[in-house]
Amino acid sequence: MTKVLIATEKAFAAKAVEGIKKIFADAGMETVLLENYTDANDLVKAVADVDGLIIRSDKATRKVIEAGKALKIIVRAGAGYDNIDLAAATEKGIVAMNTPGQNSNAVAELTFGMLVFMARANFKGGSGTELKGKKLGIHAYGNVGKNVARIAKGFGMEVLAFDPFVPKETIEKDGVTVVATVEELYSTCQYISLNIPATEKTKKSINFDLLSKMPKGATVVNTARKEVIDEEGLKAIFVSRPDFKYVSDIAPDNHADLLQFENRYYSTPKKQGAETSEANINAGLAAANQIVAFIKTGNKTFQVNK
Ligand code: 3PG
Repeated sequence: MTKVLIATEKAFAAKAVEGIKKIFADAGMETVLLENYTDANDLVKAVADVDGLIIRSDKATRKVIEAGKALKIIVRAGAGYDNIDLAAATEKGIVAMNTPGQNSNAVAELTFGMLVFMARANFKGGSGTELKGKKLGIHAYGNVGKNVARIAKGFGMEVLAFDPFVPKETIEKDGVTVVATVEELYSTCQYISLNIPATEKTKKSINFDLLSKMPKGATVVNTARKEVIDEEGLKAIFVSRPDFKYVSDIAPDNHADLLQFENRYYSTPKKQGAETSEANINAGLAAANQIVAFIKTGNKTFQVNK
C-alpha cells in the first residue's frame, strides 16, 4: 500500500489533517503522522519506508532524502521550497513540488497586522500614524504580493511594486504602479513589504545601502525569509536612522541584539504567517491531492525540480 508521511514540526490544524487523511484513504493510500517533532533524526527515521512526504518548513535535507528508500515525491505544503535539497531530490529521481497560492492570503493578512502594530506604536497607547495615503512598495509580486496589494487598497494606500519576473501589464491590471528598479522602490516607499523567496541571488540582498534609501519614517515588513536580510546592514540602519522600523515574521539571527531598538523592532516568536486553519486546509489538501494525482497518473504540475 502506498504510504505518505506528513512531517510537520509545526502541526497543521486538526481539520487539515482529517482532510488529508480522507483524501489518502479514498485513494487507497495510508497516512503516517509525525507532528510537533523536535529532533531532525525523527524525520530521518520516519521517512525510511514511505512513498510520499508532505512537509511545511521542515527541512528535507540530503540525509532525509537519502533515508527515504521508497520516496518518490515530496510536497512542500506552502510556497517557499528553500527547505528542500532539490539537487539531492533530483539525483534520486524524486519529484519535489510546492502548493503555490494556497496560504498566501494568510501571509498577506498578517502583513497588515504587523504594519498596523508598528504604525500604532506597538499597541502601547502612544500616538501613532495611519497607513492611508502612504506609499507601500511590494518587493516581488507573487501570490502573497498580489494579496498584499489587494488589502493595501482597502487601507487607502498608494501601491507600487518591483518584480522583474512578472509582466508589467499583469501588475498594472491590479492598479499597482510598477517601478523599474529595486532602488526606485525603496527610495520611493515609506513602507516596504518583503515577499521575495530566499535564493542564492536574493540572500543578504536587503542591505544597508538599499535600506538607507528609504524615506523618513521607513518601515520594512518581512513575512518572507530571514536569509534575504543582510543582518549587519539591518543593525547598522537601526543605529544610523532613529526613524527606521523593522517588523518580521522570521526572527533574524541577531534578534536578541535588535531588541534594544524598542518599539522599532519586532519579530514573532515563531513564524505564523501561514498559521490559519484556512491556510492549513488549503495547502494541506492541495498537497495531498497533488500526491494522489502524481502516484495515480504521473501528474507533475507544480514540480519545482525540473
Ligand atoms: C511558505 O513558504 O509557504 C510560508 O513561509 C509558510 O511556511 P510554514 O508552512 O512553515 O508556516
